[in-house]
Amino acid sequence: MKQSTTSNATRGRKSAATSNSPSKNQHKTGGRPTSTSGSRPTGAGGSRQTGAGEKGSPRGNTSSSDRSRKTSAAEKGASHQGSFEGESHLEKFFLDQLQDIYYAEQKILQSLPKMQEAATTEELKDAFEDHLHQTQRHVKRLEKVFETLGKRAEGKKCEAIEGISREAESIISETEEGTLTRDAALIIAAQKVEHYEIATYGGLVQLAITMQLHDAADLLDKTLVEEEDTDARLTEIAENEINLRAEHEGNQYSWNQGASGEEREGAGEEEEEDVDEESPATR
Ligand SMILES: [Fe+2]
Ligand SMILES: [Fe+2]
Repeated sequence: MKQSTTSNATRGRKSAATSNSPSKNQHKTGGRPTSTSGSRPTGAGGSRQTGAGEKGSPRGNTSSSDRSRKTSAAEKGASHQGSFEGESHLEKFFLDQLQDIYYAEQKILQSLPKMQEAATTEELKDAFEDHLHQTQRHVKRLEKVFETLGKRAEGKKCEAIEGISREAESIISETEEGTLTRDAALIIAAQKVEHYEIATYGGLVQLAITMQLHDAADLLDKTLVEEEDTDARLTEIAENEINLRAEHEGNQYSWNQGASGEEREGAGEEEEEDVDEESPATR
């Protein structure tokens, strides 16, 4: 059981980072059914399965097969380690994105406990708890990346993660406690976070490889693998049970729009203002 689910969590990848995954995570992911493996191109939880069907298929510049080839530079004898001065435009951008994701990871550390507490099912609570522990390691890894560049670890406010986090909080207040609808919605909210991270880490890994910053590339790739595995795990949780059970809740629970009503009212007022502004011109 343990063996099959570990391979399920790491479908299509055999990177060193994956084999270094903590045993706790392997245990926690135990019991996840493998029946959906590679059977569908899209996940009900909002993201693609990293199944066998995807082997070798590129995902932007984060193709796992490309990555595992390129990031094992040390194994393949590419020993030249580039230097990082932080002077070129690309180096400055790389550093800027590192600061962005460093800020984002810390914001996620604040959000995950709230999402864990709000979740209905133990399965989703466990997934959030596991990812909280992973996220703590992501922060530490980023600090090591800054260190390899000879730079101080510091964050730069990331508006994207602020917005995604606000959306997750809205979901908690808009859904009924104890419902599966809440879990289905929380999974999508969490996957929006994962996809943001995947995009950022995927791009950073490739930039690090281009600049021959192999130590940084390896560290960033380890985190990227964990983000992708988390995304796949959330998809499975959604597909295996939660979405279906949420559907069966029907209209038993009402979707509480009150929490974000302020924003909606605000939007309405704006529209009214627009109408007022336009009216003199149309008179
Ligand atoms: Fe992370
Ligand atoms: Fe994450």
